[in-house]
Amino acid sequence: MAGRIRDESIAEIREATDVVALVGEYVTLRPGGGTRMKGLCPFHQEKTPSFTVDSTRSLWHCFGCSQGGDAIDFLMKQETLSFTEAVERLAHRSGIELRYEGRSAGERGSMGRKSRLVAAHAEAVGFYHRALVESPDGRTARAYLSSRGVDRAVAERFQLGWAPGGSWEALVGHLRGKGFRPEELTEAGLARTGARGLRDAFHARVLFPIFDVAGDPVAFGGRLLDVDEGRGPKYVNTAETPIWHKGRALYALNWAKSEIVKAGFAVVVEGYTDVIACHQAGVPQAVATCGTALRAEHFKLLGRFTGRIVLAFDADAAGGRAAGRGVAELVAAPEASLSAHVLTMPAGLDPAEYVGRYGGEAFRELVEAAQPLVRWWLDWKLATFDLSQPEGKVRAARELVPLLRSVPDTLQRTGYARSVVQRLHLDEREYLAMIAGQPAGRPQVEVKAPPRSRSPQARVECEALKFALQHPEWTAEAAERWAPDWFSTPGTLAAFGALTDAGGPGKPLEAVLEAAATETDRRFLRGLAVEAFAAEENRGYADEVFRRLEELRLTRVIDQLKGTLQRMNPVERPHEYTRTFEELIALEARRRALREPRPEGDGDLPERTA
Ligand code: UTP
Ligand code: MN
Repeated sequence: MAGRIRDESIAEIREATDVVALVGEYVTLRPGGGTRMKGLCPFHQEKTPSFTVDSTRSLWHCFGCSQGGDAIDFLMKQETLSFTEAVERLAHRSGIELRYEGRSAGERGSMGRKSRLVAAHAEAVGFYHRALVESPDGRTARAYLSSRGVDRAVAERFQLGWAPGGSWEALVGHLRGKGFRPEELTEAGLARTGARGLRDAFHARVLFPIFDVAGDPVAFGGRLLDVDEGRGPKYVNTAETPIWHKGRALYALNWAKSEIVKAGFAVVVEGYTDVIACHQAGVPQAVATCGTALRAEHFKLLGRFTGRIVLAFDADAAGGRAAGRGVAELVAAPEASLSAHVLTMPAGLDPAEYVGRYGGEAFRELVEAAQPLVRWWLDWKLATFDLSQPEGKVRAARELVPLLRSVPDTLQRTGYARSVVQRLHLDEREYLAMIAGQPAGRPQVEVKAPPRSRSPQARVECEALKFALQHPEWTAEAAERWAPDWFSTPGTLAAFGALTDAGGPGKPLEAVLEAAATETDRRFLRGLAVEAFAAEENRGYADEVFRRLEELRLTRVIDQLKGTLQRMNPVERPHEYTRTFEELIALEARRRALREPRPEGDGDLPERTA
């Protein structure tokens, strides 16, 4: 059982973690005003960035899906880790030794389950790598790799390994000696229990360790040296485990991600050896799927780093690709249809051979000349028809309809439909009408309603609460007079309640969140704690907001009093009437006073969205 991490350790981790750097490993962030950075939310599909990270407040929040939290929350969500596992990851990152309740520091048995599986893999990577570069048994593997242009330095860089052929218990023995339990080894996919007990999962194979996007080793791909020996498939991968999902993984993304961001593109090649050859040849933006087809999932992952994803097809295979289901699926996937491009290599060459023969520069030229996937697919389809006769054109036009309809983006779809109209000399109105309409069998892509606009009142209340959470030093004094009836929406009222219960402006956000009654309220508060202001973030604007807040509240009270007076009979209740009337006069005077020192303009706050 995992021991509880001490609170002071957790506080230390929160303190030590730079949330912008952490999030930046997964999301491309750009300056978003002040101490904020913005990017595309990794937790929902979006085209304009509503994901905000605030370095001074160590918080992130998405205004699109209203999820948010601190560094620990981010890692939990992003890597599907438990709280303990996320804290342990962060501790490892910043070199902090965690202290556990009732356990000695750093004790192995107290680590989170997934951290244990990663730790086992880290040991295995080292073990297999030594077997490759040092052991006599690794000689044939070394010879094979060097024949493929992989020398010792490259093997080092990619931490390649060799699963010894002499024994079926080499790794098992090593890891048991390091204190790993049998069930941990099987859960990690590094060993299997069979009739002869616990045995290594990999045997006599060259190993390509696979790291997740954060750089933790999570799996292996293993290649047979001699495919003709008939000892199973050419490649085997680690089976699915809690830390490894083959269909979502991209080999080398951990190394390539920063290069992809820098260069503005990613290249997807076929396999491990292609990736290594590309990286060696000066194309460090190359990644590969791990023995699975390329799916929308992979584009989602790559889409965090770039909007231009180039697929390397060899000319032989290209036809099969275009005819197969894979490409159709990508064209229809919103994650892929805009970003995917295709580069074609000469027949018979894979990327490794291509860069070996022509060099990285030539390959980069192919990358640059890559065509959008939809364009490439349409051209390929068109080329299969005889367009010299009207009948051929009609057949082509009709067959392209479902294809065009599957393109999720309206503008892209219409654009390509027009290009078909021109190529085939069709009637534009008629053809566009055929393309329009619900694509058969495919549900319309869900379009999220634009966020509701906050009412002018709610806008002011939100700005005031934002100042309370983000600039307590400007707010404390004004906030002393605030009362529940100053806040007119359920959300702002609840936020004000939590703020008050926590002790008012200046108390830590955690305390305010703790005081909130529901998760919805907490989400709203987190948003307010990082949201940018509608105007310049300074003392003058803060005071203006507070003044407007009070004015709006006064107006509400005044309107109420007026209603009361109208319903009251001054002859029947003269005293009450006079008192209410005087109260009204006083409030109106106060409101006038508030309005007086107003600078130019009507004081209305800029339009904000909720
Ligand atoms: P290749 O067959 O091109 O592998 O498969 P290779 O190591 O480059 O071999 P040669 O030298 O060209 O013959 C490319 C990728 O396809 C996946 C692997 O991910 C591999 O890296 N693959 C291939 C499998 O998953 N299983 C297989 O049996 C074969
Ligand atoms: Mn190959």
